[in-house]
Amino acid sequence: MCGIAGYVGKNQAKPFLLSGLEKLEYRGYDSAGICIADETGLKSCKAKGRLSELVEKSKNMDLSGTTGIGHTRWATHGAPTEYNAHPHFSNDGNFAIVHNGIIENYLDLKAFLAEKGFTFASDTDTEVIPQLMQYYYNGNVFDTFLTVVSKLEGAYALGLVSTYEPNTLYATRKDSPLIAGLGKGENYIASDIPAILSETKDVYLLEQGEFAIVTADEIKIVDQDKNPIDKKIFEVNWDVSAAEKEGYDFFMMKEIMEQPKAILDTIHPRIKGNEIVLDELSLDKSYFKGLNKVHIIACGSAYHVGLVGKNIIEGIARVDTQVDLASEFRYRNPVINDGDLAIIISQSGETSDTLAALRYAKQHNAKIISIVNVRGSSIARESDDVLYTNAGPEIAVATTKAYSTQMEVLFLLGLYIAEIKGKITQEERAELVDELLSIPEKVKGQLSDIEYLETLGKKFKDVEDVFFIGRGIDYSIAMEGSLKLKEISYIHSEAYAAGELKHGTISLIEDGTLVVALATQDQLFEKMLSNIKEVKARGAYVIGVAQEGNTAIEKEADYVIYVPKTKGCFAGALEVIPLQVFAYFISLHKGLDVDKPRNLAKSVTVE
Ligand code: F6R
Repeated sequence: MCGIAGYVGKNQAKPFLLSGLEKLEYRGYDSAGICIADETGLKSCKAKGRLSELVEKSKNMDLSGTTGIGHTRWATHGAPTEYNAHPHFSNDGNFAIVHNGIIENYLDLKAFLAEKGFTFASDTDTEVIPQLMQYYYNGNVFDTFLTVVSKLEGAYALGLVSTYEPNTLYATRKDSPLIAGLGKGENYIASDIPAILSETKDVYLLEQGEFAIVTADEIKIVDQDKNPIDKKIFEVNWDVSAAEKEGYDFFMMKEIMEQPKAILDTIHPRIKGNEIVLDELSLDKSYFKGLNKVHIIACGSAYHVGLVGKNIIEGIARVDTQVDLASEFRYRNPVINDGDLAIIISQSGETSDTLAALRYAKQHNAKIISIVNVRGSSIARESDDVLYTNAGPEIAVATTKAYSTQMEVLFLLGLYIAEIKGKITQEERAELVDELLSIPEKVKGQLSDIEYLETLGKKFKDVEDVFFIGRGIDYSIAMEGSLKLKEISYIHSEAYAAGELKHGTISLIEDGTLVVALATQDQLFEKMLSNIKEVKARGAYVIGVAQEGNTAIEKEADYVIYVPKTKGCFAGALEVIPLQVFAYFISLHKGLDVDKPRNLAKSVTVE
């Protein structure tokens, strides 16, 4: 949700700014801009649309200089136009700012500045910041920056350059992510690691309210009272190639294909013999023994994973489990008892609703375990314990490998709690762990032949409505299949509990409506066959999804996708794979930008 990049060094700033923004484009892609500072002033270029527009436009412009900031935008305040694109400038042209987040009191600040005679060139909340820099400027850029930041309410990651100190970049953050990267004779700031991965693996993760003073030779981190902070360097363990497409047309397909390895890397280190060992947890076994209530909290696909997690934690470990959308959780006055466990799921670790829900649960004395992909992210840092998904960077906006690895962590945690609580025997656990360990190979097998899914994708790419139906875990996977399809193909699609159809939705089924019926749960298979018959009788086309061997589905469904056999509780891990691939091919054959669907951005850092 908006990407920031900044550079100070001995080299020209522009090449890094453009390449860094390209790696951050998944965070927002409706406009972009860069600004270079030197003694002669601030030089900038902005363009509406994708970053490629900015690259093209900036080709023949003089943007020479060795200090600069850049931004790729996902519009919040103000339409996605060139004049709303960042950086934004002070009236006198001495300050330029890039911003990720929302300044909640910007209307008051704007009115204050307007009264002082300032004029505004954009509709954004951000523009008040450079104007305040001009208004409060007292001969010292950093002191002025501290004053200005103290006036801001809301969420922000900020990068600032000025003509007064053209060799210094200032940055700070509150509730929006920002890192500073350490190079040799050059240093960087960025919203996220992929932007700087090809330059350095040594970064400072800025905490709330910390300020970075960045020059070519050093990065000083201080607090709001200018006290130096002795920060540890965080070493990134991702490969540079992880943020490259490596021959795939789209990151989404690359990431789908990476799932066997990502799943293996996530479960393997946590299984010793056939025991589940969660060394990362500081919460001890006696805590889990006495655990009475679990709250799983997340957004979007991560919420869908949470629903699968409920099936395991409640179904197998027998602990009462509530799954909440993070954006709803703290507004419904939930009952949280001292010592309840809140499981917070987030790929990015920066989703603002999820972070706010975490803080709310913490204030109400819940213990927090987060399941996060990005190391050192805000959610990871604020949790009591973190179980990282080892998926590597996920660039495509539509999540695939992060979703799958989140599910694996929930399987591990669910079985771990189940055994501590004595709900499964060691033998049962060993059997389930064996099954879990077989998942990466099974997924690999599924991905070795995806031609049939491409055929189905081509065939159905022009449908207008799709209904995904299922029962139990299949219903949770139906939600994910439906979200995957609609977000990247723009086809209207909904997920329904198959048994609910008759209570209203079935009136929408007519000749040619596509229904994807998920039927991997043995105990619910016959009931699903009846539900398929019901929609067929009303003219639907049905793609059935079943476990290998359950050939009875062929009599009812028009097309069948088989998934490898596994224990029912793990079926979702395999079932979601063809749904991801199906959605991918529909989007691809519609000619859409699979990785960057319209209106979306990865890492939603505004409420
Ligand atoms: C959909 C998708 C989103 C995210 C959601 C939460 O494909 O990726 O629904 O799952 O925005 O994001 P994180 O996991 O970063 O908190």
